[in-house]
Amino acid sequence: MPINSSHAFARGANFTQGGPLIGALCALIYRCARLSLEWMAAQAAFRSFRRSAVISDRLSLGPSAWCYNPGPPQRVAIGGGTTCRGIVRCENWSQGSISVGQDCYIGDDCILSCACRITIGNHCLLAHGVQVFDNDTHPINPEDRERDFRILRGEAAGSKPAIGMAPVDIGDRVWIGFGASVLKGVRIGRNSVIAAGSVVTRDIPENSLAAGNPARVIRKIS
Ligand SMILES: CC(C)(COP(=O)(O)OP(=O)(O)OC[C@H]1O[C@@H](n2cnc3c(N)ncnc32)[C@H](O)[C@@H]1OP(=O)(O)O)[C@@H](O)C(=O)NCCC(=O)NCCS
Repeated sequence: MPINSSHAFARGANFTQGGPLIGALCALIYRCARLSLEWMAAQAAFRSFRRSAVISDRLSLGPSAWCYNPGPPQRVAIGGGTTCRGIVRCENWSQGSISVGQDCYIGDDCILSCACRITIGNHCLLAHGVQVFDNDTHPINPEDRERDFRILRGEAAGSKPAIGMAPVDIGDRVWIGFGASVLKGVRIGRNSVIAAGSVVTRDIPENSLAAGNPARVIRKIS
């Protein structure tokens, strides 16, 4: 999302679910204000989550949140008390599943892209711009990659060429700093911290502070 007053760091609003009356009242009161537009965006976001995920009543969403899941809603589970301001996505060429625990925060511009499995424990914080990919999106081999792109654009028939993918598991109380990336096959142990801008390519044990590209453990957290 643009870095403007809707951003979480400018105290941009989160929204909880409300009935049509509350919605109409809110829209009436704020109809000339940006908040009204954001409220409507958040209602569209709620529709995407209700359609595509198993959610709790206590979910709260930012105006740019979105859930994309072409499979059954059971593939995406979001725990109670979680706030999501980013994109939660199951890729349409695979059968992945995403589970986000309770009381987590998924910030602005975050993307979870899932082709096999992404699990995030309870009380995890993903700062803005964090990317979690359990897949490479495209093949390494150039001919396969060209064919993949042509299939994506609807210019060629056939199924997607094989790409790299492996589950990502993020333990309870993990904090991932802004702009960090977590790549396929990684497990981050509970309580660990990933410093801003890090690229996590290998497992990080629990109770560790990791930083850099590739992310390495800098010290243990007591
Ligand atoms: C993770 C973090 C909190 C650690 O802070 P800290 O404990 O004070 O760490 P220090 O600044 O003492 O740095 C320790 C070492 O890690 C390195 N380091 C710290 N952050 C780093 C980063 N993002 N990338 C690479 N190296 C980093 C330092 O250079 C230092 O290395 P050195 O010992 O060789 O000099 C901090 O680095 C960070 O990422 N802050 C951003 C938090 C954030 O995302 N906030 C958004 C709101 S949720």
